[in-house]
Amino acid sequence: MPFAVEAQNLKKFYNGFQAVAGVNFRINRGECFGILGPNGAGKTTLVEMIYCFLPVSEGRLTVLGDNVVEEPRSIKKRLGVVPQENNLDLELTVRENLLVYASYYDISKPVARERADQLLHFFGLSSKANQEVDRISGGMKRRLTIARGLIHTPEILILDEPTTGLDPQSRRMIWEHLRQLKKRGLTLVLTTHYMDEAGQLCDNLIIMNRGEILEEGSPSDLIRRQVGEKVIEAEVNPSKREHLLDNLSALTCETQVSGDTVYIFIPEDETAVVDLLKNNRELDTYRVRPSTLEDVFLKLTGRGLDYADAEEFAGREYQAL
Ligand SMILES: Nc1ncnc2c1ncn2[C@@H]1O[C@H](COP(=O)(O)OP(=O)(O)OP(=O)(O)O)[C@@H](O)[C@H]1O
Ligand SMILES: [Mg+2]
Repeated sequence: MPFAVEAQNLKKFYNGFQAVAGVNFRINRGECFGILGPNGAGKTTLVEMIYCFLPVSEGRLTVLGDNVVEEPRSIKKRLGVVPQENNLDLELTVRENLLVYASYYDISKPVARERADQLLHFFGLSSKANQEVDRISGGMKRRLTIARGLIHTPEILILDEPTTGLDPQSRRMIWEHLRQLKKRGLTLVLTTHYMDEAGQLCDNLIIMNRGEILEEGSPSDLIRRQVGEKVIEAEVNPSKREHLLDNLSALTCETQVSGDTVYIFIPEDETAVVDLLKNNRELDTYRVRPSTLEDVFLKLTGRGLDYADAEEFAGREYQAL
């Protein structure tokens, strides 16, 4: 059986600017696949090529075995899309938004009505069915946009930043819906810049930066490979930092500095590092905690994902690789 998506040396140029730089990856059917990266990494560009909205500049891209260049119409019928910006019709009601979308796929009216009601029920929107979209909350709009992407019962659902800008409760609700959809056999492809979201939902993921793939694998593989099971966060006065970093490098620890915090990626055994920190009177505080994907990103790029100024980041060299 062909992969859900297969990309080989895939590139995208916008007037000579390379937004996707020759990437290779495969998405298995039935999995939740994550595309992670900061602003401008090329996530939207990549998924827009997958759902045949943007033409491929170079390389090969197949979806469910069909080439996006040759078979865009049949691919579009088998894909559902939840774009980065909600593009719902604000003047129509919640249910009408689903019915109008169904008509684009030549779904008969009775079938469309039945599916719309099922989806509204699944996403907890039945009581809002006749409400104008303008009047519903941000989290509800997002759920409606996901429901709309499913109206033609696609095999793959592509979600571009499904929970950006939502409150924690709405995010968790969407995660739960996505888990249930995966259980029903749907392939999910999602972009995100939330590491916790990827860690919670994704079976496999790629981490992108400036159009390139920096790393790929399952969340637990990436954590084990890049940063180990545990990380120590130590608060150190900048004037004392160099001394500590020298001592740590003697213990072959990899470190990353962010503000006043030194992140110490512990090799196998943390005892030697903890002893060093205990005996270091210059240290304010430190804590040992389980590693997360955020640490992987920090180690790969020298910077966390949640930062305000993407432009500034774009100008920086990343330190790893
Ligand atoms: N239509 C366009 N014309 C020219 N450049 C573009 C266009 N669309 C995107 N880009 C550039 O391509 C790069 C990748 O953009 P893209 O929107 O794919 O990133 P992203 O990872 O989705 O970012 P975000 O997290 O902000 O949504 C950026 O540098 C962006 O400025
Ligand atoms: Mg985007």
